[in-house]
Amino acid sequence: MTMKLLKKSIIFTALLATVVLGSCGDDPTGPTEGEGDWLEYTVDDFTFEWLVEDSSNTIRVKITAPSTGWVAVGFDPTLVMNEANLIIGYVSGGSVNIRDDFGTGQFSHDADTNLGGTNDVETISGSESGTNVETTLEFRIPLDSGDQYDKALVDGNTYTFIFAYGNNDADDYTSAHAWAESASFEL
Ligand code: HEM
Repeated sequence: MTMKLLKKSIIFTALLATVVLGSCGDDPTGPTEGEGDWLEYTVDDFTFEWLVEDSSNTIRVKITAPSTGWVAVGFDPTLVMNEANLIIGYVSGGSVNIRDDFGTGQFSHDADTNLGGTNDVETISGSESGTNVETTLEFRIPLDSGDQYDKALVDGNTYTFIFAYGNNDADDYTSAHAWAESASFEL
């Protein structure tokens, strides 16, 4: 090979590598793969991780937010939080409190049990760090609880998800959020 041809070939290989490698990066706006079969979606400092458990028709969820107050995720609202299946919780004095709520309006929610429905969330774990200013909750919900105050979810379908957290030390189910966001992606 002549020197000129060798140079051309090196430039071509470098360009090809740039194009190929450049297209392999994670989509920063979409969910990414986590450990095992877990998937995760991060927006700002809020992380939503989930694992669909097909054998038990359940979904296991972990949410992490930069707050020592309440943290919440909502599934499939119509508008803002209206009709969303909301799971909201906080860690206080070492105990984990998680509640199954429903969006009763665009800016209001209440416990399913207060509305005549059922509490369909199984608490797995929760932790809070004042030093890192962070709360993590892990829980499991049925894909279809049958409760009119939950939303049936189908593995692989696209839904709107809402995420929010309260101010530090807002260890309750009722105060307004310090931060809220929404996103639409495939479960
Ligand atoms: C009693 C508690 C709550 C009150 C009073 C409340 C109130 C409001 C209000 C007034 C807004 C519009 C203005 C703004 O963006 O701040 C809003 C937006 C929003 N809320 Fe709430 N909220 C509450 C709880 C929640 C919860 C638990 C979630 C869900 C995970 C949530 C998710 C959202 C979302 C996604 C938006 C839209 C934000 C945006 O478009 O940027 N809210 N809420």
